[in-house]
Amino acid sequence: MLRCSGMGSVFGTVFRVTTFGESHGPAVGCVIDGCPPRIALDVAEVQRELDRRRPGQSRIVTQRQEEDRVEILSGVQDGVTLGTSIALMVRNQDQKSSDYEEMRTKYRPSHADYTYQAKYGVRAWQGGGRASARETIGRVAAGAVAKKVLASVGAEVLAWVRTVADLEASVDPATVTAAAVEANIVRCPDAAVAERMIALIDEVRKAGDSVGGVVEVVARGVPVGLGDPVFDKLEADLGKALLSLPACKGLEVGSGFAGTRMRGSQHNDPFYNEAGRIRTRSNHSGGIQGGISNGEPILLRAAFKPTATILRDQDTVDESGAAVVLHPRGRHDPCVLPRAVPIVEAMVALVLCDHLLRQRAQCG
Ligand SMILES: Cc1cc2nc3c(=O)[nH]c(=O)nc-3n(C[C@H](O)[C@H](O)[C@H](O)COP(=O)(O)O)c2cc1C
Repeated sequence: MLRCSGMGSVFGTVFRVTTFGESHGPAVGCVIDGCPPRIALDVAEVQRELDRRRPGQSRIVTQRQEEDRVEILSGVQDGVTLGTSIALMVRNQDQKSSDYEEMRTKYRPSHADYTYQAKYGVRAWQGGGRASARETIGRVAAGAVAKKVLASVGAEVLAWVRTVADLEASVDPATVTAAAVEANIVRCPDAAVAERMIALIDEVRKAGDSVGGVVEVVARGVPVGLGDPVFDKLEADLGKALLSLPACKGLEVGSGFAGTRMRGSQHNDPFYNEAGRIRTRSNHSGGIQGGISNGEPILLRAAFKPTATILRDQDTVDESGAAVVLHPRGRHDPCVLPRAVPIVEAMVALVLCDHLLRQRAQCG
């Protein structure tokens, strides 16, 4: 018998998150099962994360004006989690279905229009439905709760924009701060490179085009022992989490692809004993060995493609298969990277929180 648990909208084993909602439906959000009780949670903490993801926050992101006000519907009382299911909801406000009239029957190249139609025989053509980045509101809201659970063991997750097109920042994952990431609108802590990234995104926006790039993320203070052999290795679950994000096309762990150009003698991370704590002198492993966290910072890089919807005419086909020209309209992100930063943090926090609770359940 086929057992289906939510058909792709449910994530996690103990800290279990379901997201719901379409881009142009009444609301989007999430339901979290398995959150520990008595975790302090203020709605402002969830709102702060959503504000970092919000459209319209600067000139280099989509100009759709959404307040994205979160409502806590259940599972929290007097500022603490109850241990029961937590429901978080954001009502959609600034929907212009007319912007999508052009995509009602024509398939946007490299978007999800054709594949959704081919799979279901129907699709929410206004705004991309579940394929829209609005779905990630539920993830960011749940991630804000996961971050609180992680903070209770001294762990934190921090992401930033490392590259936009071929512009690359130099950032030290050991010392980078949230304030440095939030210091500019592109969320790149290397101020000089950030300026050039902003200028490039401005330029492609004016040309009706788009660019991609890489978000880098570090998790510091993660306890040793998170991750389960063999299919639920920590990097496997982090990979699924990040590759499930819209427009994410690749992932590197630790030294990543650059590691393939090194010798074992250069790449191995030597162990040493730091006052009773086993540490490694280098961290090419990215904090994970054998699928289990080793206590060093977890370091990942997620690649995001250039936004599919560009404001230029494009050859495509319509639902009948006829060749047509698409004249896209609407308000789109010329580069998804600045808004992807809090979303990447959220997904990493969800995986680490789930594995923290799994580790407690099995090993105490
Ligand atoms: C933060 C963020 C914002 C996005 N904004 C847009 C957008 O404005 N227009 C668009 O076409 N795609 C946007 N995307 C990407 C699409 O949702 C995605 O490309 C689409 O669902 C197809 O999925 P795929 O690229 O993973 O194959 C965004 C993605 C993220 C992470």
